[in-house]
Amino acid sequence: MVKICGIGAGYVGGPTMAVIALKCPSIEVTVVDISHSRISAWNSDHLPIYEPGLQEVVQQCRGKNLFFSTDVGKHVSDADIIFVAVNTPTKSRGLGAGKAADLTYWESAARVIAETSKSNKIIIEKSTVPVRTAEAIERILTHNSNGVSFQILSNPEFLSEGTAIEDLLNPDRVLIGGRQTPEGQKAVQALKSIYAQWVPEDKIVTTNLWSSELSKLADNAFLAQRISSINAMSALCEATGAEVSEVSHALSKNSKIGSRFLNSSVGFGGSCFQKDILNLVYIAESNGLTEVANYWKQVIQMNDYQKDRFVKRVVSSMFNTISGKKIAVLGFAFKKDTSDTRKTPAIDVCKGLMRDDASLSIYDPKVSEDQILRDLAMDSVECDHPVHLQPVISPSTMKQVRIVQDAYEATKDAHGICVLTEWDEFKTLDYQRIFFSMQKPAFVFDGRNILNAGKLREIGFIVYSIGKPL
Ligand code: NAD
Ligand code: UGA
Repeated sequence: MVKICGIGAGYVGGPTMAVIALKCPSIEVTVVDISHSRISAWNSDHLPIYEPGLQEVVQQCRGKNLFFSTDVGKHVSDADIIFVAVNTPTKSRGLGAGKAADLTYWESAARVIAETSKSNKIIIEKSTVPVRTAEAIERILTHNSNGVSFQILSNPEFLSEGTAIEDLLNPDRVLIGGRQTPEGQKAVQALKSIYAQWVPEDKIVTTNLWSSELSKLADNAFLAQRISSINAMSALCEATGAEVSEVSHALSKNSKIGSRFLNSSVGFGGSCFQKDILNLVYIAESNGLTEVANYWKQVIQMNDYQKDRFVKRVVSSMFNTISGKKIAVLGFAFKKDTSDTRKTPAIDVCKGLMRDDASLSIYDPKVSEDQILRDLAMDSVECDHPVHLQPVISPSTMKQVRIVQDAYEATKDAHGICVLTEWDEFKTLDYQRIFFSMQKPAFVFDGRNILNAGKLREIGFIVYSIGKPL
């Protein structure tokens, strides 16, 4: 039986390995992690991440050909193929701080592989990494192993949170980069044969190592750039009377442009877009390509502008003061159908509102109270390094923020509502009831353009939707 070990039981490692186990019953898959709490959650009925369909897949395979363990060394040593899906956050200090990828976790995984391996192995980069990381990893492995040979492949992951299982079962494509040597190509074929168990062959794209590594960074940069582009249009729409959803719709009918990633929003979030663009910027700068670096930096600047613009709109609409006013925040996750809050625009918006002394009442269907309070207590660099952090939640944060269990409680007696995540349940709330329970004038700031502004205005709300006339 072929043995696979997945290092890193996070948002990528957990679902990816679970789907491989599901589709390849003859392969034994063990997911390992240094985090004991994460592994015990994977072994329980309360998985550490919320992802539609994940529970069912794990239940079907766990204990048969899918295992979760903290014994990293043993399972690495036993495996024929090792997927490395550890976190690669932005460096918080030293050379390249604030931009370059921090490969500490990757390097420590590579060292464990080198130290414990007694047989030849294929090592797969699942994490998103800077271009030419495979070369660095190769060096660590070959200089620390005892004659064991390793083939490194790049096999970046393209799943989106909230649709991870669907994306893994029916990927647009699987990308595999390998060395152009006979051994490298043999390893590519071995990995290809695993995916071929459920992915049509024409969707499995093979390239050289560096193209594969760069394609992942390029992919996220292009997606984020579309959001920043439509968000830039949203500001123009507000200034001119155009409607951003109509502009998106018109653009989407151009087959050269396509329809996806054209939803204007309060800004993109998630653990990857910003870090991967910063990584790209750093690589461009390191290669003396200043214009290229500046081009991609703009995508992040536009995203920051959009979040800032939203906060300013709230304050200016509410008579230039929100001091002591209760603002209901609906949604904290960075998008719907996930409990993930990494780099969620809600953090910056809430902090902006708190700086103006608002009193926040926050409700999210899937994010825990503890998580929200920690996010609001941390600075942006700490957020990227959850392993080390011990955030101190200040008394003023505690005084200004209440986390509540439903949208009606959040909005009761509020002066305004900010919709920051596009959860479906926010579309069907009883807004008449909410209006009656709020202070007047009652404001709605729809950061996701999911509400029917016309109907809300009929009820009596003053409504601000991104990129739409007031
Ligand atoms: P994550 O933080 O959820 O999971 C990473 C896990 O790796 C953690 O549980 C951590 O404890 C573990 N880990 C770190 N060092 C380890 C070591 N030496 N040995 C064993 N375990 C170790 O991160 P994630 O969101 O799953 O992302 C992982 C990688 O995949 C990143 O490079 C990210 O850019 C990329 N990626 C993420 C997504 C996504 O949707 N989250 C999608 C595509 C690609
Ligand atoms: C994104 C990419 O879509 C995946 O292909 C990639 O694998 C992944 O990053 C990664 O490398 O981590 P994800 O961050 O899970 O996936 O979620 P997206 O659906 O891309 O949304 C990212 C952010 O952009 C969210 O805050 C979302 O609300 C926002 N967004 C998305 C918009 O504001 N408008 C849109 O039209 C689409």
